[in-house]
Amino acid sequence: MKKNRACCTCEGLREQQSRPAAVRSIKIVGTGRTLPERVLSNVDLEGMVDTSDAWITERTGIKERRIAAPDEATSDLMAEALERACGRANVQPSELDAVIAATSTPDTLFPSTGCWVQQKLAIRGMPAFDVSAGCTGFVYALELAASLIESGRVRIVGIVAGEVMSRVINWKDRGTCVLFGDGAGAAIVTRGDSRSGILASNWGADGTLAQILYQPAGGTRRPASHETVDGQQHTVHMEGNTVFKHAVKAMSSAAVNAMRDAGVGPDEIALMIPHQANLRIMEATRERTGIPKEKVFSVLDRYGNMSAATIPVALDEAWEAGRLRDGDLLLLSAFGTGFTWGASIIRW
Ligand code: ACO
Repeated sequence: MKKNRACCTCEGLREQQSRPAAVRSIKIVGTGRTLPERVLSNVDLEGMVDTSDAWITERTGIKERRIAAPDEATSDLMAEALERACGRANVQPSELDAVIAATSTPDTLFPSTGCWVQQKLAIRGMPAFDVSAGCTGFVYALELAASLIESGRVRIVGIVAGEVMSRVINWKDRGTCVLFGDGAGAAIVTRGDSRSGILASNWGADGTLAQILYQPAGGTRRPASHETVDGQQHTVHMEGNTVFKHAVKAMSSAAVNAMRDAGVGPDEIALMIPHQANLRIMEATRERTGIPKEKVFSVLDRYGNMSAATIPVALDEAWEAGRLRDGDLLLLSAFGTGFTWGASIIRW
């Protein structure tokens, strides 16, 4: 069974639609992030489950993570991050032509978290919707934003990825509760100048592997009931080792394919921001892509796996730290529930 599953992902990667076409002229003109105030350290977790700081650090690279306040939902974090990104881009939230929200932990099943973000920012009129692609959500949303801008339908898109993972975690399961954190990151995307843009990108999914990482109840398959709540069916269920192997394979293949299609080598990449789930996954992916260690930007030790939010939060910190300059080549690569994956090479 496992063998077949592995083959499915390989097939998907071989068949995925890469975009070797001309540069797609877009530019990220602002980014922003929001992290909840409360810090939960590995030492704090030692008092909650049978684990240790040493185990978590060695197996994951995570030291601490942020946890949303009881009255904070995903759209609260997202609205703040998007507003900050707008401020940095010198754009009013009301000027956005579309709001794309990437999340697996929406405020409500309906309406979309994108619409709740609109309500929080008191903006209306432009389309707002969610992208559900797990940890690949930001890369999927960027692909959509670029396509909308390229088609001429819109001028300025606000992408915001956010998660409150702490609400869908079984805090008694040491195999999952040590991994995740809460946060949100945003980017404002517009038509590019003569140099900036997406040189190449690819995205894909393999739904035959859906049950390896999922939230069993709360949707139409298994609506909420006393039984589902008592059975912790509204929390993350995951085969950790299987996710690990697929993540490395898919993220590295997506990145290598994107570099090939862009006609650039690993030495030309100025910065790589992979999805930040586990330091060992990031390191194995980096090795397979040939990117030098010092070019990988990580926030994992401080924030844990924030699913869709990890890449835009890291992007915001990298830009703020002066790690990205005009003309630099940025490589994004992600993997998540679904399974989904995607990579983009962006000339900054
Ligand atoms: N503390 C102490 N011991 C633990 C803990 C813990 N928190 N969790 C598991 N263990 C134990 C296990 O019970 C097991 O004990 P045993 O040998 O007595 O049976 C032992 O540690 C080894 O367990 P493994 O599962 O083999 O450990 P592994 O090295 O694979 O690490 C982990 C587990 C961290 C979950 C890893 O598989 C992983 O990171 N997988 C990827 C999962 C992931 O990142 N998912 C996020 C969503 S998907 C995404 O974002 C890409």
